[in-house]
Amino acid sequence: MHERTAIVTGSTSGIGREVAMGLLEEGYTVLVTGRRAALLEDVLEKARKNDLKAISHVADLSTEEGILSLIRKGQSALPHIDILVNNAGGLVFAPIENITDKDYETLMSVNLRAPFLLSRAFLPEMKKRGSGLIVNISSVAGTEAWEGSSLYSMTKFALRGLTGSLLAEGAPHGVKAFAICPGYVATPMVSGAPVPLKEMIQPNDILKTIRYVRDLSPYAVSPEILLNRLGAFS
Ligand SMILES: NC(=O)c1ccc[n+]([C@@H]2O[C@H](COP(=O)([O-])OP(=O)(O)OC[C@H]3O[C@@H](n4cnc5c(N)ncnc54)[C@H](OP(=O)(O)O)[C@@H]3O)[C@@H](O)[C@H]2O)c1
Repeated sequence: MHERTAIVTGSTSGIGREVAMGLLEEGYTVLVTGRRAALLEDVLEKARKNDLKAISHVADLSTEEGILSLIRKGQSALPHIDILVNNAGGLVFAPIENITDKDYETLMSVNLRAPFLLSRAFLPEMKKRGSGLIVNISSVAGTEAWEGSSLYSMTKFALRGLTGSLLAEGAPHGVKAFAICPGYVATPMVSGAPVPLKEMIQPNDILKTIRYVRDLSPYAVSPEILLNRLGAFS
């Protein structure tokens, strides 16, 4: 039987970990990655115990070399990629005058250069095989901007631009791409937010959204899904 495979960036924590575990449980071989080796080992251990197939790679996506090392790992450890989830991300929320050059370099690399380089590396092989899915985790901050969101919103708006083009280039070859734009999701990234974690979107909702779009029939596409938090309307 065809081995189903996925790369999920930022799978040490939050959304990425939930998505990686969910795909592992469905039988995918999943390449999990992040900077924190101990948390990756924890995912591997859970996978081993349940007879699931995870491969790990420690990489810092704030550097080009980190991104390229992940691409090499994906190419050498997996026969092909069925699903690429560009999830890893950092958050900087501050008035623009307080955002440093280092913040800029880091966020542009993790949130944007990594999805761009990973997509560039893996889309051609998906097109050749005639199937594949690229999921980009954007944000509601990629659809609107507020005080303090300049840098974060830049990266998340741009990610939607990348997604649209990936879909246009991939669709004629059977490859889909879509972006998810969630409001607050209950993860460590927003543990300081003025909303209780239990009243936020849950990481499992992101997993369900990926499964929903993945399982649509071949000619049905959903370029992006906005997932608002219920309380955000009040
Ligand atoms: N939580 C929300 O409310 C929310 C809402 C909308 C969108 N998002 C987006 O969802 C994605 C996942 O975030 P989350 O909420 O799950 O937060 P999280 O729990 O803090 O997870 C962030 C993940 O990104 C990885 N990461 C961060 N910097 C990295 C770097 N330099 N190199 C490699 N990996 C790095 C982290 O791994 P290591 O620390 O191990 O490197 C971690 O696995 C992000 O793109 C975020 O912008 C989140």
